[in-house]
Amino acid sequence: MKLVLECVSQMLNDPKLFCQKAYISGEWVDASDDQVILVNNPFDESIIGSVPACKAIQVNDAIESAQSAQQDWARMSSIARSDVLAAWYELICQNQDDLARIMTLEQGKPLHEALSEIHYAASFVRWYGEEARRLSGHVMQPDGDHRVVVLKEAVGVTAAITPWNFPSAMVTRKVAPALAAGCAMIVKPSELTPFSALALAALAERAGVPPGLFSVVTGDAREIGEGLLKSSIVRKLSFTGSTAIGKYLMAQSADTVKRLTLELGGNAPLVVFNDADLDVAVDGIIASKFRNAGQTCVCTNRAYVQSEVYDEVCLKIAKKLEGIIVGNGLDPAVAIGPLINDMAVSKVKSHVEDALSRGARIVGDELTINGRVILPVLLADVPSDALIATEETFGPVLPLFRFETEQEVIQLANATPFGLAGYVFSRDVSRAWRVSEAFECGMVGINTGAISMASAPFGGIKHSGLGREGGSAGIEEYLEMKTLHFHL
Ligand code: SIN
Repeated sequence: MKLVLECVSQMLNDPKLFCQKAYISGEWVDASDDQVILVNNPFDESIIGSVPACKAIQVNDAIESAQSAQQDWARMSSIARSDVLAAWYELICQNQDDLARIMTLEQGKPLHEALSEIHYAASFVRWYGEEARRLSGHVMQPDGDHRVVVLKEAVGVTAAITPWNFPSAMVTRKVAPALAAGCAMIVKPSELTPFSALALAALAERAGVPPGLFSVVTGDAREIGEGLLKSSIVRKLSFTGSTAIGKYLMAQSADTVKRLTLELGGNAPLVVFNDADLDVAVDGIIASKFRNAGQTCVCTNRAYVQSEVYDEVCLKIAKKLEGIIVGNGLDPAVAIGPLINDMAVSKVKSHVEDALSRGARIVGDELTINGRVILPVLLADVPSDALIATEETFGPVLPLFRFETEQEVIQLANATPFGLAGYVFSRDVSRAWRVSEAFECGMVGINTGAISMASAPFGGIKHSGLGREGGSAGIEEYLEMKTLHFHL
């Protein structure tokens, strides 16, 4: 294993960013019993390193130091907090190549995609650093001799459980607004991709984030999650991940009445009408479906194409997918990297086989699986009772469904308990507007497959979650209102 570790460090300009210890209370520590979790490269399953399997007692250490650090931090001026976040942003930008390389090694996504995730991650730090300076409460209109002032106060100690699919951006999307608002945050990163979060913590430390204010506790999700959930000091939890785990966390948070932000599963519909610019639609479909090998909550899961243009859209997509290079994310020619683990590969396989058994057909390359690397699959004539229509695939498979009318497709699009994102392609503004309003989801892409940016609210409805990240809404999740009533 040692040889492999040396190899990772040699790939970085700054080997110190490859941290194999947890960051708790401003210290880099091992697990209290020295146990570790091995982390592998999803492309070839080689071990790239290990992180401590922290114990409940270490979660408590993180919570206690977060509590004391938070009190000083919240008392600092918002300009001073903003300056620290600005320094962190600069360091992330300066070290973007190393951060991207670490991400590709542990997550698998191609290096160019990892780099764009680092830019996305940095944009949250920048945006919330700036937003820190604009926080304010409000004063109500006088009512006789009664005056009311609403203050905004930091929630306090907060926690985040972050996923493996965006190992950096989902950390900064939570930590940056928390810190900007005056909160402390303890992050439990996915066991599969802890190194990105640890590298961000190393840079936060260098930027002057006070010890204890931002900890990264690595280890078993259940053990660390329980410690965070049981604590009354932790006033809020932000989670990105599956709906099943989100529901569990919600139930477990009831006892301490924690605030929750939950960004959960999706089953995004994408609709192409006859009147769409088909080239724009096809680019939007490819961007939305195949980003991160299809392992994105807002990925198109079902593409509905109106009958008249169905065959043309299908051919155009097949042509774009021809010759796409899949493989090791470190290879600059690769456009799609491996899936995260064998379970993810099995799910893709079962969705494709199920669709084929119900009469769908593959256009272009057959299902080709090499380890965890899968060639993109285009499925045509998929019936609406296929598994892929109801379950999130989280892989590079694009099912095309045929539809006739606007009313029909709205019903199909909404026939899911999920409500994260939806996409519509049409040149008819009224139609695009009508369909966007009719979609039961939190975000709609109109003539675009890209809907993620730091300044815009991101989140879902129904079983896709609660609350919003990004934009002004994202910082409100870390602020409490306190209403002061004055009698003159
Ligand atoms: C996600 O898949 O959870 C996040 C995707 C994004 O922010 O674009």
